[in-house]
Amino acid sequence: MNKIGILTRDCAGINAAIRAVVRTACHYNIEVLGVRRGYEGLINGEIVNLNRLSVSGIISLGGTILKTVRSKKFLTEIGQKQAVKTIKKNNIEGLIVVGGNGSMRGVHILASKYNIPTIGIPATIDNDICGVDLAIGSDTAVNVAIDALDKIRDTATSLERIFVVEVMGRDCGYIALQVALAGGCEEVLIPEKNFDAKKMCEEISEGNAKGKISWIVIVAEGKAKANDIAETIVEKTGLETRVVVLGYIQRGGSPTAIDRILAARLGSYAVEVLRRGETDKCVCLKDNRLDTVPLEIAIQPKELEIEPYYRLIKILT
Ligand code: F6P
Repeated sequence: MNKIGILTRDCAGINAAIRAVVRTACHYNIEVLGVRRGYEGLINGEIVNLNRLSVSGIISLGGTILKTVRSKKFLTEIGQKQAVKTIKKNNIEGLIVVGGNGSMRGVHILASKYNIPTIGIPATIDNDICGVDLAIGSDTAVNVAIDALDKIRDTATSLERIFVVEVMGRDCGYIALQVALAGGCEEVLIPEKNFDAKKMCEEISEGNAKGKISWIVIVAEGKAKANDIAETIVEKTGLETRVVVLGYIQRGGSPTAIDRILAARLGSYAVEVLRRGETDKCVCLKDNRLDTVPLEIAIQPKELEIEPYYRLIKILT
């Protein structure tokens, strides 16, 4: 193998993965082409050369040095054929795609429909890739949210207020569950579980009558709008309630050590796997050992471990 390509989405730890891919490829004298602006750049032929120097000093940077956009064109057959043309024209013998489940669907299309040797590296704050315990970026996102939450709690307890905090995660409650447990929160609302607003408000009122002065409710963005939940709480309990929507701060920032190490291991392994001639797979850790998941499994909906978290949150409230 003489030349590979890499394209990415955006979250903390992606630059660390790019670095690992480039440095491992250099070790094997493999040339690396970076695709700018994700699948859109692949369609348009936006290619740059990457070498040891171009990835120097990026391990601690959030975002992606390659830039990225969501590509509607890649969802069409015309777009996909143009992308394949770019791959062939540039003599790219294998492609590595770093991103979430949308990106992994793209990997699967390139590998299975167009026979392009392609390997995925899971990187998404949502941590919703099936068969992958931990995707790059989600540890940083949870830590960013916890940092914010610890500050919010200061005001919640000082001013005897209820806070409803909305976290990201698209259709997945992963971030919300982690944050609720690690942040010592009293309630968590996620897409995967039914929610009884009346019961929650009764619990808040009962707790308040017994002297509990503050309450933090975590809402996953895929479940409800924090503003709507706050309105219901005010209406049913009469207690002072504030809303915080954490949003994109969870996706940015310098990656945690866990994300950097994960990105380094997975990035390097993706090159090894491509060199072995494997394709249509996503690299991951299983029992903390490097492994792969077939893409047709990785793109299925992921089942989240919910009940042990819920039980703990409730017991510890
Ligand atoms: O998939 C990662 C994610 O940050 C989700 O948590 C969020 O719902 C979505 O992307 C936001 O997408 P966009 O960047 O297109 O606004």
